[in-house]
Amino acid sequence: MKIAIIGGGNMGSTYAKAFIQSNIVKKESLLIVEKYSDKINELKSKLGVVIQDELTSNITAFDTIIIAVKPQDFRVLAGTLSTYLKPNQSIISIMAGITIEKISALLAHKNVVRAMPNTPAQLGCGITGFSAAVGVNEDTITTIKLLLETTGKAIFMKDENMLDAVTALSGSGPAYFYYIVKHMIEAGKQMGIDEATAATLVKQTMLGSFQIMNNSTLSLDEMIKMVASKGGTTEAALNSFDANNVGNHIIEALQAAESRAKELSQGA
Ligand SMILES: NC(=O)c1ccc[n+]([C@@H]2O[C@H](COP(=O)([O-])OP(=O)(O)OC[C@H]3O[C@@H](n4cnc5c(N)ncnc54)[C@H](OP(=O)(O)O)[C@@H]3O)[C@@H](O)[C@H]2O)c1
Repeated sequence: MKIAIIGGGNMGSTYAKAFIQSNIVKKESLLIVEKYSDKINELKSKLGVVIQDELTSNITAFDTIIIAVKPQDFRVLAGTLSTYLKPNQSIISIMAGITIEKISALLAHKNVVRAMPNTPAQLGCGITGFSAAVGVNEDTITTIKLLLETTGKAIFMKDENMLDAVTALSGSGPAYFYYIVKHMIEAGKQMGIDEATAATLVKQTMLGSFQIMNNSTLSLDEMIKMVASKGGTTEAALNSFDANNVGNHIIEALQAAESRAKELSQGA
């Protein structure tokens, strides 16, 4: 398989690394198109793949083209890319908020898949929700799922509208996690523990709790009960969460992210 990645920034280079590490594509079958010269030099020395600084007609030789530029750069890119595309090529867009319909229209191309990854993809433990244009066949969807899974897990969403919820849950999710960790560390500091020690306590707690959650058949409520004994310290904290409606605030925050994703998709 020959894969071209347009945009060699954070996400584009993540895919290039993941494809090489997983042996899904040979180095000589991978092309990165990146216009920023500092990044070109960095990627050349780190990955040893072919990099060119502009799109040329050789793009027609690639089976799959991944578009990893910022959404605001897409219109200009589409003007050139559309002149080179052949109907059998697959396009994967990871651009936030640009719908399949818009991508298809600007590229005059039908074989379009839209994916929403998240930053843990950099370490191979990301999660990607993806959706395909009507008419993209099952074999192509299966191949693209394999490509996306080189950076972690991938879930196919039949309904493209669900990508707004995916954006709110997992796309933005890492930031919510850092936010909670940050405030737990702050609490530790206010209790008199130095920042480094508080950070170690909180980060290892998050890691250990994740491992239990991921290996347990218990429900989340049951796991909470295992930690919180009647009249104890955990219960005091949980009562404070409930009194302050923290659960509902979290749901509202994610709904705000989903609404913003919808606005961006509609061009707001
Ligand atoms: N980061 C995330 O968590 C995340 C998650 C999900 C989806 N995404 C999506 O992933 C995409 C890439 O994000 P990123 O964080 O990787 O951005 P980034 O680091 O800015 O990378 C984009 C790269 O593409 C280059 N570029 C722009 N137009 C180009 C063109 N016509 N030809 C070749 N290269 C071009 C840019 O160069 P210049 O800097 O010189 O313009 C830049 O180096 C975005 O659309 C974003 O919405 C990101």
